[in-house]
Amino acid sequence: MSRDPAHSRDSVHARLRAATDPAHRALEDSLDWRGRVATLPGYRDLLARLYGFHAIWEPAIGAELGDEPFLAPRRRLARVAADLDHLGLARGAVAALPRPAAPRLDGPAAATGALYVLEGSTLGGALIGRHIAGLHGFTGDGLAYYRAHGAAAGAMWAAFRARLETFGTDPAAEASLTAAAATTFTAMRAWLCAPRVAD
Ligand code: HEM
Repeated sequence: MSRDPAHSRDSVHARLRAATDPAHRALEDSLDWRGRVATLPGYRDLLARLYGFHAIWEPAIGAELGDEPFLAPRRRLARVAADLDHLGLARGAVAALPRPAAPRLDGPAAATGALYVLEGSTLGGALIGRHIAGLHGFTGDGLAYYRAHGAAAGAMWAAFRARLETFGTDPAAEASLTAAAATTFTAMRAWLCAPRVAD
């Protein structure tokens, strides 16, 4: 699904979106989310992968961002865990799920770049959530991850975009933010699209 390219390039957000558009397309192309969520075991496997990613990246972002009030409502690890629980994965099995290598994020700008990818994934995620709800008849339980910010989605995204603009007066910080976003897209694609680890 393409995102509007005819957008002003004079904001940090517009430049970031343009810089990462190819990475977003590559991820979207390789994810095969429709195929993966078509069955409940497939949906569970996808969530298991997302769990591992968030288990490593959220603490890494938190350590460098240094702004827990901003990050806390954006953390989604507990949401994936709740969905996995609903889908029948035992708590011990959830805790033992495979995780990717820890990233190197250096400072708040890089952490914000990484968080951009996780926050942005809630936008396409809303559509994926609606698809899963229709397909499997879920009304709430089992969809916490993809429901994400729910009715607050617009406000959360606006606040995140405003945060991006605070890096616009420091070219080095913006470069670090953009590089971290690109790295996060690559890491997410490698992790989510890798062949399944035997369990
Ligand atoms: C885990 C995989 C994904 C990640 C990390 C991701 C990341 C992002 C990011 C960072 C944005 C924000 C773009 C901006 O700055 O405006 C975004 C927007 C968007 N994504 Fe994805 N995305 C993912 C998967 C998908 C998939 C599979 C779809 C298709 C269903 C999709 C559809 C969209 C759409 C439609 C938008 C724009 C929403 C809007 O502007 O209201 N994404 N995504």
